[in-house]
Amino acid sequence: MNEEERQEIKNPLVEPREWPLDPSLTFLNHGSFGACPREILRRQAALRDQMERSPVRFNLTTLPDLCEAARESVAPLLGVDPKNVVFVSNASEGVSTVLKTIEWRAGDEVIISQDSYPACRHMLNALALRHRLLIKVALTPFGGHKWEQQVVEAFEAQVSDRTRLILIDHITSPTALVYPVTELTSLAKQIGAISLIDGAHAPGQLPLALHQLDPDFYVGNAHKWMMTPKSCAMLYVSPRWRAHILPHVISHGYLTQGESRYQALFDWTGTRDYTALACLPDTIKWVNQRCGGFQRLRSRNHRLIQAARDLLVTSLWGGPSPVMPPRTALAQMVAVPLPQPLATYPESALPPSMITAESAASAGRIHPLQRALWSEGFEVPIITTAHGVMLRVSAQAYNTLGEYQRLAETLLTISSSRD
Ligand SMILES: Cc1ncc(COP(=O)(O)O)c(C=O)c1O
Repeated sequence: MNEEERQEIKNPLVEPREWPLDPSLTFLNHGSFGACPREILRRQAALRDQMERSPVRFNLTTLPDLCEAARESVAPLLGVDPKNVVFVSNASEGVSTVLKTIEWRAGDEVIISQDSYPACRHMLNALALRHRLLIKVALTPFGGHKWEQQVVEAFEAQVSDRTRLILIDHITSPTALVYPVTELTSLAKQIGAISLIDGAHAPGQLPLALHQLDPDFYVGNAHKWMMTPKSCAMLYVSPRWRAHILPHVISHGYLTQGESRYQALFDWTGTRDYTALACLPDTIKWVNQRCGGFQRLRSRNHRLIQAARDLLVTSLWGGPSPVMPPRTALAQMVAVPLPQPLATYPESALPPSMITAESAASAGRIHPLQRALWSEGFEVPIITTAHGVMLRVSAQAYNTLGEYQRLAETLLTISSSRD
């Protein structure tokens, strides 16, 4: 990193006040639900006003054009022709839509990773009960020598002549790892299985060239790393599947004829608030104007997360550090395994201020250390994974290196109070 780059991560790329985030909170968790800039939220409010002033005209004449403009603006960032893209409300809906489109046969096998997103595993488990499928779990590693190859081999080890689908998380949620999607998509092709890539975290964090990658399906959120308002995700469907795919809710588009039927089906799934997707072109313009574009934003945030990782691993582990993934597996988030006593921080150690009705409701679901960090003013997920308890931090334009430094110091204080 040169001096200019070092300086760049010490200061926000865009001032945090441009987001409605609570200024008393150090927000290092862009990954969970994203964060939308104020200016885009104002644009969304204006669109809602327009819709409520003239609901019929808005829905029948304005909305189809807004939807088309959204598709045109996002397609180059996905590396596809706009005609291959439809919108869904979120990645969960996208994955579920694909899984329900497939005509399953009893005995079909699906391969997922042990770091696949829990909600998608639940979807598969529910389908497995109904259609008598077998869900096989690839024991993908967190780090180590030749990590990428080991990930591919973990999937290969689960292949059989009954493998029907491989669910590939582009960036894993609990461990924040960028999986080798090119190799895994090729594996699916080689064995004649369907490839479904869950890219919930990818648009905005990674450059995408879906046309080249050529999966059967790719789902990506815009409301996380592209920073649109909530309820905006894209579903790419390969031309091989376009005639088959149906949205969760079938509406007027069903009667549309020809090539555009697939988009008509998804563009209108009944009356709802479509303003989040209508803000996509403005959000992309905002990132271009305020952050210098996604490429610049990505490389700045990537440098920041690498520096944050080095700092956290060194501070928390002191001596020998845990086995970590290669830097090529990082984008704009990193998961750092927690040493003892932090990993087993107990409920009983929580400060009294956190023993509230809210914390009682979340007890057991949210790690006590995450709640202890709330009381210290930090928003950071603590996640129990197959590889141990992890601290996952994100880097976005409003974050600075000093915030991770303060987090490390706070964790050390918490840790020493447990010794
Ligand atoms: C890998 C993965 N898939 C799916 C989802 C679900 O995304 P959404 O809540 O937008 O449906 C997430 C959310 O973080 C995720 O990380």
